[in-house]
Formats: sequence, structure tokens, C-alpha cells
Amino acid sequence: MENVAVVGGGLMGSGIAEVSARAGHDVIVIESNEEAGKAALGRLEKSLQRAEAKGKIDSASDVLGLIRVETDLGAAADRDIVVEAIVEDEAAKVALFKELDRIVAAPDAILASNTSSIPIMKLGVVTTRPTQVIGIHFFNPVPVLQLVELVPSLLTSPDTTARSRAWVEGSLGKQAIDCQDRAGFVVNALLIPFILSAIRMFESGFASAEDIDRGLVLGAAHPQGPLALADLIGLDTTKAVAESLYEEFKEPLYAAPPLLNRMVDAGLLGRKTGRGFYTYG
Ligand SMILES: NC(=O)c1ccc[n+]([C@@H]2O[C@H](COP(=O)([O-])OP(=O)(O)OC[C@H]3O[C@@H](n4cnc5c(N)ncnc54)[C@H](O)[C@@H]3O)[C@@H](O)[C@H]2O)c1
Repeated sequence: MENVAVVGGGLMGSGIAEVSARAGHDVIVIESNEEAGKAALGRLEKSLQRAEAKGKIDSASDVLGLIRVETDLGAAADRDIVVEAIVEDEAAKVALFKELDRIVAAPDAILASNTSSIPIMKLGVVTTRPTQVIGIHFFNPVPVLQLVELVPSLLTSPDTTARSRAWVEGSLGKQAIDCQDRAGFVVNALLIPFILSAIRMFESGFASAEDIDRGLVLGAAHPQGPLALADLIGLDTTKAVAESLYEEFKEPLYAAPPLLNRMVDAGLLGRKTGRGFYTYG
């Protein structure tokens, strides 16, 4: 699979585009408008320059030369694999997969979603090729974290799963684990209730955000605390994943606490907006 499209060039999409280009693929990033396209390009430039400064790549501009940013979904027509990384909104993703099914020409192209929580089956069944629809779930920051969850739906073919594994492990150099098509897969089904518990602890006044995070960093050797992690993931994404988990399992531990809802209402989404549980300069 040589030609890659990534739909949505936000936090995750720009990272997926970066690792794909660093592996030598021809990459198109498709954003919803010019402004978002410029922001995606800016993210890519910054990240690649950082990688060059750290000696991880020889030339940021060479890698950037493999990436094109477009605003027309039609640009995905000649791609071997399309990875969807738009907002975590089921209606938006369903609409996009219908369009991709119409647009992507190669009969064996893989249509992948980076969704954190939406059942892959819901995206597969709106296409005429559910056997080629699969979850390929990367972790943030994509250039740094090794894990990818591979999530075939009940209708995904073994060939699609095998080719996806070969791409993420053989080409991108990531490590894959296999998951069932259940909300949250493996990692988020365990991580999100943990983050929600930390938010409830903070909300109740039991401990400060700093002390909760220091507790887990110093006492459990976590690389960062749960509230700093929520800021990194994005509080809107954290809330959306919690809602999908709650919808699927109806367990109180997955219910978004009021503070999380109010922060999202206020636009305090974490690092990406400069303020969440912490303030960023
Ligand atoms: N943030 C994380 O840590 C994380 C980790 C793994 C997976 N994910 C998943 O990845 C996906 C993207 O999350 P994110 O954190 O990058 O979000 P984000 O808000 O940073 O980026 C989403 C991007 O999609 C673009 N977009 C929206 N609708 C579009 C459309 N129809 N066509 C083209 N572009 C469109 C937006 O302009 C935005 O740039 C979500 O499904 C999320 O659940 C997120």
C-alpha cells in the first residue's frame, strides 16, 4: 500500500500523516476547509522540524515533500488506504464513510477509522464494502507511541486485517494488538474510567489537580498524571469516548462527570485550546 489519504488533519490525523510520510508513503491530508488545512500543515511542519532537530529524521522538508493537503475529498480517489481521523461524531463519520465508498476507486482499498469508541460495524455497514472497513487506532502523540489497536468488525475480511497489520507493523514500524469491535477497545476501556475517576476526585475537592497527578507519577510510575493526560487527549475527545462507553455498557464508571461536561461547554479543551485542568503558554 503506497498511496495514503488521511481525512482530518487534527491532533491525530497530522500524526498519522507524519508517520506515513516518514515511512516513505505518498500522503494526502484532507481537511474540511482552507483554514483547517493550513493548521494541519503548520502542525506537520512543527512536528517534523522537532524530529529533525532531535536527529530522528534527516530532513523535515524531504518528509514534508511527500505530504499534500487538500480540501476536496475527491483527492482520495486513487488511494490504497484511507485513514479517517475526523471528529469523534458518529453521524459525521457515517456520512464520511458513505462518501469514501463512492469516491475511492481501487476495489481492494482499505477504508480505516482511527475512532476511539465508535463501533467499526456502524461505519462498515454504510459502505458497499464492509469487508474492507477496519479500525486502525493510533495513540497520541502518533510519532512517539508505538501501539496501534487493530479492530476488525464482524464483517471485516481476514485479508483486510492481515494487510492492515502488515502496513502498521511492517511499514510504519508500530506494534499492533488485536481487539474486538467493542466501545473503547482495550486501552480506552481501561484508561477512560481511570481519567473520569481522577476528574471526580478533583471535582469533589478531595485533592488538587497537581497532587492527583503527582500521586500517580511518583507513586505508580506513570509518565504523567490522569488530568495532564486528559488535557493531552483533549477534554472533548475524552467526553465523547466516555459517552460512547456509557452508551455501550451502561455502567456508571463510564458516565462523564459534570465538571468535564462544563469544561467542554466552556471550550476549555486542554492543550489544544491552551487551558484545561492546567494552563498552557
Ligand atoms: N486525541 C486523542 O488522543 C486520540 C487518540 C486516538 C484516537 N483519536 C480519535 O481520532 C479522531 C480525531 O481526533 P483528534 O484528537 O485528532 O481531533 P481534532 O479535533 O484534533 O481533529 C479533527 C480534525 O478533523 C477535521 N474534520 C472534521 N470534519 C471533517 C471532515 N468531514 N472532513 C475532513 N476533515 C474534517 C477538523 O477540522 C479537525 O482538524 C477521533 O475519532 C478521536 O476519537 C483521538
